[in-house]
Amino acid sequence: MSRLQELGAHIESREARIGVIGLGYVGLPLAVAFAQKGFRVCGFDLDSEKVATLRDCASYIEDVPSSLVAEVTAAGRLTATTDFGELATSDVINVCVPTPLTRAKDPDVSHMARALEEIRKRLRAGQLVVLGSTTYPGTTHELFVPMLESTGLRVGVDFSLAFAPERIDPGNKQFAVHDVPKVVGGETPLCVELAAQVFGTIFDEVVRVSSTQSAEMVKLLENTFRAINIGLANEIALM
Ligand SMILES: NC(=O)c1ccc[n+]([C@@H]2O[C@H](COP(=O)([O-])OP(=O)(O)OC[C@H]3O[C@@H](n4cnc5c(N)ncnc54)[C@H](O)[C@@H]3O)[C@@H](O)[C@H]2O)c1
Repeated sequence: MSRLQELGAHIESREARIGVIGLGYVGLPLAVAFAQKGFRVCGFDLDSEKVATLRDCASYIEDVPSSLVAEVTAAGRLTATTDFGELATSDVINVCVPTPLTRAKDPDVSHMARALEEIRKRLRAGQLVVLGSTTYPGTTHELFVPMLESTGLRVGVDFSLAFAPERIDPGNKQFAVHDVPKVVGGETPLCVELAAQVFGTIFDEVVRVSSTQSAEMVKLLENTFRAINIGLANEIALM
């Protein structure tokens, strides 16, 4: 059995360790959701205040009650750190860092590149890396694949790589994290299957698409659709 096939078995048994880089509006609810399903989760953030708050069993995100952070922390299923050395023990690494635009309206990939470098230094056979940040189509294939393969490990053979956009609507009481279908695109068929398997443990429905580029485009299309509808509603309100 290959190391990647072993990962599938470890996800099934909940022995797989989950890492989440970036513990903001997207990363913290995801980390807590995995912990609630019985995984051991380690969250990584550059912000030592956020890490200290979580270690005190408190939450700074409205949708995540402090009682839930306390519950999964007490059960030994959620830890938080600024020490990226812990990434070496994560079997699944979710990247949830910011992706703002520059003043020139170009994508600012610096946060992703910094997180990616931390992963690259510790990449090992059998790991699954999933990018969840909103970004331009091609990011996973053009930025992540060359950086991670520079280690000598091959995508789809030694490690897995997928894009699964976060579609959370913070503050929305009608739809919880698990209600919103999770869209997943992989670099290879095995990559998409492993990512679908891990997200299938927390989402009611997982939608597989043909590539990481398609998954990236799904999210941009959704954001654009929403922006147009907000603009339309504002125009009608003025009328
Ligand atoms: N907030 C939303 O409603 C929402 C919804 C869908 C998608 N997204 C997308 O998800 C991504 C994350 O957004 P967010 O709202 O969670 O952002 P956020 O600002 O709330 O959280 C990002 C966290 O990442 C940390 N961080 C930055 N660089 C880091 C690094 N190199 N290593 C470790 N931690 C790092 C920051 O300290 C911060 O705590 C963005 O691409 C965003 O566009 C956001």
